[in-house]
Amino acid sequence: MTRKRVGILISGRGSNMQALIKAARADDYPGQIALVLSSRPDAGGLAAAAAQGVATAVVDQARFGRDREAFDAEIHRVLTTAGIEFVCLAGFMRILTAGFVRRWEGRLINIHPSLLPAFRGLKPQAQALAAGVSVSGCTVHHVVPDLDAGPSIAQAVVPVLPGDTEESLSARILEAEHRLYPEALRAVLSQASPKP
Ligand code: GRF
Repeated sequence: MTRKRVGILISGRGSNMQALIKAARADDYPGQIALVLSSRPDAGGLAAAAAQGVATAVVDQARFGRDREAFDAEIHRVLTTAGIEFVCLAGFMRILTAGFVRRWEGRLINIHPSLLPAFRGLKPQAQALAAGVSVSGCTVHHVVPDLDAGPSIAQAVVPVLPGDTEESLSARILEAEHRLYPEALRAVLSQASPKP
């Protein structure tokens, strides 16, 4: 089995990244986590990745200001230099340009803490509480230029309980994310053939 070279893009603590790294250690996993790339030099996930022996890189968003094209071009360069074939966004807090998304189309996925298409964008757990829904969850989806609008790959449902706060609901959803993301990546990698 050829394991596809996967890059993970993060901006923060990287708990989903850690779940992916752990899962990819299994002998039969169809991907290897070959690079963790952070948009912030102070992302907690960088140290966690390095501690697991995974190569890391920083493309510091602060260096690029509002020039999203240049920022995305640098990310693309770092990914391709590392031979990355497939990209997972995991708490990556930058909106990627349409040009970048098209270059990675079919090889770029994200996890979002709601049952899309409900509650796209920021603070989806707070949006779910405000809407008064009785279930929420998380979605792994293909990335398209529109934010959180790509085709769903897999979803997990969690209950919203009486008395839930944004923190308690987020924690319940996060546990589900850590199970769902590795499974969804496995499924996609088993089907996807990387572009030449
Ligand atoms: C997760 O809730 C993910 O769904 C969202 O951002 C959060 C990142 O958390 N996109 P972590 O950095 O993976 O711990």
